[in-house]
Amino acid sequence: TDSVTLYEAIGGREKIEELVQAFYKRVAKHPALIPIFPDDLTETARKQTQFLTQLFGGPALYTEEHGHPMLRRRHLPFPITPTRRDAWLECMEQALAEAEVEEPYRSAIFERLTMTASHMMNTPEDEK
Ligand code: HEM
Repeated sequence: TDSVTLYEAIGGREKIEELVQAFYKRVAKHPALIPIFPDDLTETARKQTQFLTQLFGGPALYTEEHGHPMLRRRHLPFPITPTRRDAWLECMEQALAEAEVEEPYRSAIFERLTMTASHMMNTPEDEK
């Protein structure tokens, strides 16, 4: 498995699209997340598909269209509290299960996204 990317190992484009769809379906219904996301999540989901493809070692789709990710900076307009970080991760954990991403990749992905999500926090709980 040394030369195979995480992207290929989990099932490539199709699996990432499944995962992203399962994820935003939950984001759209999560009371902690609704206030900061747009009503129409089509474009958000498209960008996330590009980003995760690239993060997992697939083609650099996000950077090709949008340049350097600078994710923390792109999240600064949105108040991301510890509660919202936890909500995001809860949606992702359930989406990984629904999309049937296999172990050990599922845990590796969740660990990686837990670190990234914590890096996105920019607002203390009482300032939301
Ligand atoms: C965009 C929230 C964590 C990747 C966004 C947007 C919001 C948001 C509100 C803007 C949506 C839009 O206007 O279309 C959050 C919250 C997080 C979180 C509450 C909890 C910690 C993450 C993580 C990643 C990520 C961990 C990466 C794995 C992205 C990407 C975009 C985005 C790629 C699109 C950026 C662009 O406009 O090009 N996020 N996010 N987010 N988020 Fe997050």
